[in-house]
Amino acid sequence: MYRVLVTRKLPGPWIDHLKKEAEVEIWEERDPPPRSWILSRVKDKDGLLVTLTEKVDREVIDAGKNLKVISTYSVGFDHIDVKYAISKGIRVTNTPDVLTDATADLIFGLLLAVARRIVEGDRLIRSGQWNLPWYPEFMLGKEVSHSTLGILGMGRIGRAVLNRAKGFNMRVIYHSRRPHDVDAEFVDLDTLLAESDFLVVTVDLNPETYHMLDYSRLTKMKSTAYLINASRGPVVKEDDLVKVLSESKIAGAALDVFEREPIGSDNPLIKFPNVVLTPHLGSATRETRERMAEVAVKNLINCLKGESPLYEVRL
Ligand code: GLV
Repeated sequence: MYRVLVTRKLPGPWIDHLKKEAEVEIWEERDPPPRSWILSRVKDKDGLLVTLTEKVDREVIDAGKNLKVISTYSVGFDHIDVKYAISKGIRVTNTPDVLTDATADLIFGLLLAVARRIVEGDRLIRSGQWNLPWYPEFMLGKEVSHSTLGILGMGRIGRAVLNRAKGFNMRVIYHSRRPHDVDAEFVDLDTLLAESDFLVVTVDLNPETYHMLDYSRLTKMKSTAYLINASRGPVVKEDDLVKVLSESKIAGAALDVFEREPIGSDNPLIKFPNVVLTPHLGSATRETRERMAEVAVKNLINCLKGESPLYEVRL
């Protein structure tokens, strides 16, 4: 029987399914497993199923002498040294597609929430400060319909955001490594920054996108514009974003991802009323998380059997 290491319990019946095909050693807690647990347990395993909080670097890959597959329960794979794994003949798989709609829904939710001050309004009521009846200039936000949406990156999630934007009659511009066959205008990065009312980040994290949105780029945005990021925190240089917000160089931000997660209670972003924060919830629906489990487990089993996985990361 194959031996596999699984670093987290997953929703749905898929771990039980995996147990029919392999001997499974699983970390049962909600906290990530200590690195030493992974390093010692991976030694005799044929497969490794991880989530995005486990760093699968050279040390882990070298420790997994029998590894044939690393299956990540995520679309992102920046936590895995994919190049090194592949050089060792280990296949790397991920779970795209099944989380696209859930993530695009959350992105749109963040966009609407920050534009229309939904979270701020909720906080105001709960803190007992809604003490005047309706008046014309109370809590005015930014109109979403007919405004310009800028999408950075045009992969699966970028397209799903684009589809949603159509329903809001938005003008959509985008920038990515190359133009795509989509119903939106391809522009250079400076134009994207200068013209977007809402700038949505959907690129993956890699050496080229690390700190891509730094002070010089963020200050090219309109002072009335909003930044929405649900991809990976380090695409945005967080200190610079804080500076840009302090100087009111942009109107606000909605963030699902951060340079360090979870963020500390001393994170300066917490102080801005015009910033909406969610704790990395992009794919967090029951349906999506179960589908991700199905894909991650099937990817793992298929690779162990020498068959093609549903999705494979190739560089
Ligand atoms: C979540 O962030 C993922 O990469 O699936």
